[in-house]
Amino acid sequence: MTLNIVPFVSVDNMMRLVLQIGPEEMMRAIAGYIEADFRRWESFDKTPRVASHSDVGVIELMPTSDGELYGFKYVNGHPKNTRAGLQTVTAFGLLAEVDTGYPVLLTEMTILTALRTAAMSALAAKHLAPAGATTMALIGNGAQAEFQALAFKAICGVTHLRLYDIDAAATMKCERNLKASGMTLTQCSSAEEAMEGAGIVTTCTADKQYATILTDNMVGPGIHINAVGGDCPGKTELHRDILMRASIFVEYPPQTRIEGEIQQLAPDHPVTELWQVFTGAAKGRRDARQITLFDSVGFAIEDFSALRYVHDLLKTHPYSEPLDMIADPDDPRDLYGMLLRAGANAA
Ligand SMILES: NC(=O)c1ccc[n+]([C@@H]2O[C@H](COP(=O)([O-])OP(=O)(O)OC[C@H]3O[C@@H](n4cnc5c(N)ncnc54)[C@H](O)[C@@H]3O)[C@@H](O)[C@H]2O)c1
Repeated sequence: MTLNIVPFVSVDNMMRLVLQIGPEEMMRAIAGYIEADFRRWESFDKTPRVASHSDVGVIELMPTSDGELYGFKYVNGHPKNTRAGLQTVTAFGLLAEVDTGYPVLLTEMTILTALRTAAMSALAAKHLAPAGATTMALIGNGAQAEFQALAFKAICGVTHLRLYDIDAAATMKCERNLKASGMTLTQCSSAEEAMEGAGIVTTCTADKQYATILTDNMVGPGIHINAVGGDCPGKTELHRDILMRASIFVEYPPQTRIEGEIQQLAPDHPVTELWQVFTGAAKGRRDARQITLFDSVGFAIEDFSALRYVHDLLKTHPYSEPLDMIADPDDPRDLYGMLLRAGANAA
């Protein structure tokens, strides 16, 4: 394929890929790509994502490069969307060759974001969750929820899920979708009830405000918290007192301090960067009573890893369409001449 034709993975083709490979296998593979990229953290350009806020949501661009490939994701976050029958989060992304600047992949990333977010959560939990934790409370049972559940099953060995959402219809949907997963599912009528006996809690709610999904009294010693839904200025899920008791692990501090749970804390509050845990330079969980918190916001390198994975996957799974995306005349300086010739041919 010539460089001016860009492989495009539509939503349809992404679904074919996920169904053929299997969501659990795919998230295991994406976690492997993320871990490999985090282990070479210093080779990446890094910047907090570029966010455009409105009263109802946010639209963000997330770029990074390792010097050979450049990637970016466009993503939105609009908690009100579900009421209008729309997704809270949608995304697409692009991977390009640094050498020429030509794109090598354009893909849907709404499904891919759910896969990579869950893969990242489970990868962090592999290093942070208490040994032998098999029960997870899953609070917020919307679009991301099943992906989180299956990633924790595949990567961390979670077998029991305790589900809670303020909207019982969301929990029923989640239970229906996970029925064939082999996991034991319990519907709960409050977040407190969901926490009973859980070694891991995932909060994955959407609300454009400082919410308090977990209060201090709900978090006992030894638990691992995977806080996914607090990912914007003014949009958090945990009471500040929990943060004061927890060992906090983050992706990229300059972004997390703006967007994560730790926006509630002093700007120099100590946090550990996950890439250092993955390389062994920093410790993950130290003891059985420690409360660990992954303050997830989603960082560009995770999307880069997911894009790199899909790009590699297309070599053996040809689920893409050729997109005539880059104007590329035979004589590179004759862009206008190409236009004239097209006009003459059409006449
Ligand atoms: N950290 C990341 O990398 C990352 C990636 C993707 C999405 N997110 C965030 O994750 C969150 C979930 O995304 P989604 O696509 O599943 O959204 P969604 O709108 O599909 O689902 C959110 C669910 O949360 C429930 N909810 C809201 N308030 C609640 C409360 N107080 N208690 C219990 N449940 C409550 C809603 O009823 C809904 O079912 C969003 O906030 C999104 O911005 C984070």
